[in-house]
Parts: sequence; structure tokens; C-alpha cells
Amino acid sequence: MTVPDLPADGGFLLRPWRLTDLPAVAEAAADPYIPLITSVPAVYSDAEGAAFVRRQWARAADGVGYSFAIARDGRAVGQIELWPGPHGRASVGYWVAGSARGQGVACAALRAVASWAFGELRIARLEAHVEPWNAASWKAAEKAGFAREGLLRKWKEVGGERRDMYVYARVAG
Ligand SMILES: CC(C)(COP(=O)(O)OP(=O)(O)OC[C@H]1O[C@@H](n2cnc3c(N)ncnc32)[C@H](O)[C@@H]1OP(=O)(O)O)[C@@H](O)C(=O)NCCC(=O)NCCS
Repeated sequence: MTVPDLPADGGFLLRPWRLTDLPAVAEAAADPYIPLITSVPAVYSDAEGAAFVRRQWARAADGVGYSFAIARDGRAVGQIELWPGPHGRASVGYWVAGSARGQGVACAALRAVASWAFGELRIARLEAHVEPWNAASWKAAEKAGFAREGLLRKWKEVGGERRDMYVYARVAG
């Protein structure tokens, strides 16, 4: 797999992670939730930050998924990942650094990834799993064309406990 450059609304660019993106990883590490749902280190150091970036490269190299940095003016402000699954399905996960929230970053990134996935990758169904309390996340998904399909009870362990998640999906066409 090769992570492409994808332009997104608002002047954002989705692109492969770089070792110069460590300030965004450091900011994400300081968030109480992001390290629980990603491999962002809970305790940041430059070595841990660089290891995070290398893990993102390995996802594509190993054929597991596409991890994009969401950047503006050359500076990374978040991440969006796409994991292809069987039967033309794929799922997405994303985060935005605290200082860049509320500016439509997640929505723009979701739209760009969805267009690319439905076009280039011929994905038929794109899913996102979001905890019910996480209105910022499901609002961004809804604005990007995803629809809530139900509540998956005890879907996933997060922070040492099973959590319910809404399943959101956007389908091709
Ligand atoms: C969820 C997250 C990615 C949203 O990123 P973002 O770039 O700020 O999202 P957007 O600006 O595209 O949209 C957020 C929407 O939620 C709204 N919102 C923000 N915080 C909110 C809150 N606490 N309660 C309700 N709505 C909220 C915003 O107003 C916006 O809606 P609007 O455009 O109608 O005003 C970001 O908050 C984050 O990284 N959180 C931690 C990690 C995470 O939860 N990832 C998603 C896991 S499913």
C-alpha cells in the first residue's frame, strides 16, 4: 500500500507522516482520550513520537492500512486512518490536536478519505465507530455524509472497560 497525498477542503492536505510532525504527536499524547484509542504514546518523548511515525509507515508497508497526517501549511494537526476489510468494506479512525479543533478539520479529512476510498479503492461501505458521548466525533461524521445505523453494545475495550459504540456508515454512490 502507498499512502497518497489527498487535498481536502479548507486548505488541508492528507499526506504520509513525517518525522517533522512530532509536535502534533506530542499534543495528541497530552489528550486524555487519544492515547486510549490509538497507538499515540500516553507519555510523550521524541523517541516515542518517532516510533509512532514509524508505526504509521509500517501500516502501509505491511498492507494493514493507510495512515494519513492531516496537515495545513506544512504542519500536521491530526490523523486519519483507513483500514480496508473484506467484502469491499473499510473503517476509519481519526483525531485532531486540541489546538486545531472546531475548525472542520475532521469533517474535511473524512470527506477527502471517503471520496478517495469510493473512487480509487472501490470501497463500497465505509464505517466509523463512535462512543455516544463523543458528539464532536459523530457530528463531524454526520456532516461528512455518514449516517448512524445503530448502537453496538460493548463493542470494544477502551481504557480498560468495554464501551458501547454507535456504528456510522457512508456507502458508495
Ligand atoms: C472528534 C474530533 C476528531 C473532532 O475534530 P474537529 O476537527 O474538531 O471536528 P469538526 O470541527 O469537523 O466538527 C466537530 C463538530 O462537533 C461540534 N462539537 C465540538 N465539540 C463538541 C462537544 N463537546 N459537544 C457537542 N458538539 C461538539 C462542533 O461544533 C462541530 O460541529 P459544527 O460544525 O456543527 O459546529 C476531535 O474532537 C478529537 O480529536 N477528539 C479526540 C479523539 C476522538 O474522539 N477521535 C474520534 C474517535 S471516534
